[in-house]
Amino acid sequence: MKVKSKRSKTNLGLPIVVLLCLLFLLAGFFGFMILSQDVPRARVIPRLRTLEFVEEVNEDGSMPHGRTGVASVESIPFQILSWKPRALYFPNFATAEQCETIIKIAKANLKPSLLALRKGETAESTKGTRTSSGTFISSSEDKTGVLALIEEKISRATMIPRNHGESFNVLRYELGQKYDSHYDAFNPSEYGPQQSQRVASFLLYLSTVEEGGETMFPFENNSNKGTGYDYKKCIGLKVKPRQGDGLLFYSVFPNGTIDGTSLHGSCPVIKGEKWVATKWIRDQEQDDDF
Ligand SMILES: *[C@@H]1O[C@H](CO)[C@@H](O)[C@H](O)[C@H]1NC(C)=O
Ligand SMILES: *[C@@H]1O[C@H](CO)[C@@H](O)[C@H](O)[C@H]1NC(C)=O
Repeated sequence: MKVKSKRSKTNLGLPIVVLLCLLFLLAGFFGFMILSQDVPRARVIPRLRTLEFVEEVNEDGSMPHGRTGVASVESIPFQILSWKPRALYFPNFATAEQCETIIKIAKANLKPSLLALRKGETAESTKGTRTSSGTFISSSEDKTGVLALIEEKISRATMIPRNHGESFNVLRYELGQKYDSHYDAFNPSEYGPQQSQRVASFLLYLSTVEEGGETMFPFENNSNKGTGYDYKKCIGLKVKPRQGDGLLFYSVFPNGTIDGTSLHGSCPVIKGEKWVATKWIRDQEQDDDF
């Protein structure tokens, strides 16, 4: 009996000891795992992160980028000229050589500039509103590739894809030539239903005008409104054309309504010659140019 009970005791005791040993082993193992993860994590991981950061950020401060992004940081200097309308100035947007190349291409194809007519208007009734000569050139027609470069840069500056732009409208204003104040956006109540709207305009000045030829915004900050403004007058915010500089302004508010302060015109050239390349940017893709 004694032996039997002793045997049964050892029979029961042995598995318990083995089980307890296993439990201790496991507890020790997991305890070590948790400790070895927890404690050093607080110290080591941030250091690893810092290392990753140092490795991934380049000298120019560029970041890892998405599939359609680029690998470097770029600087396109600009100055906010006005919030009403939203107008930005880009000094030295293009080089003098690029400007001269565009003028050369355009010169071969200049025609008197036309107007988009409102209901009831005729070419005769609007004579004298826009006296410049101009031509439309798409970047694909330009074998030098300069227009494509400019177009690409405009799309980067605006973050509006290239195919939202119309062809470049290159204009020449000679002595006394001007463009009376107007909107680039089309008000459907005046022009009828529109397939798409011009939301922004980018003007690249191709020449420096000695005197006159400014781009003017007579209603800047809602000034001169409701005072019977003479649309031929050259008042308000005036931007002097300087070769290579760019001017971007938005014709509509973020909600799509036409911004009344985006009214603008080109003052008469008093001395020199004004060359400008205009890119109208629309809210819809412009398939025909691509
Ligand atoms: C802009 O117009 C507003 C309202 O007419 C006026 O209060 C404000 O002083 C103007 N800002 C400047 C800088 O002239
Ligand atoms: C659109 O935005 C402008 C400027 O913020 C605002 O004055 C106008 O009332 C808005 N129009 C509509 C229809 O929401």
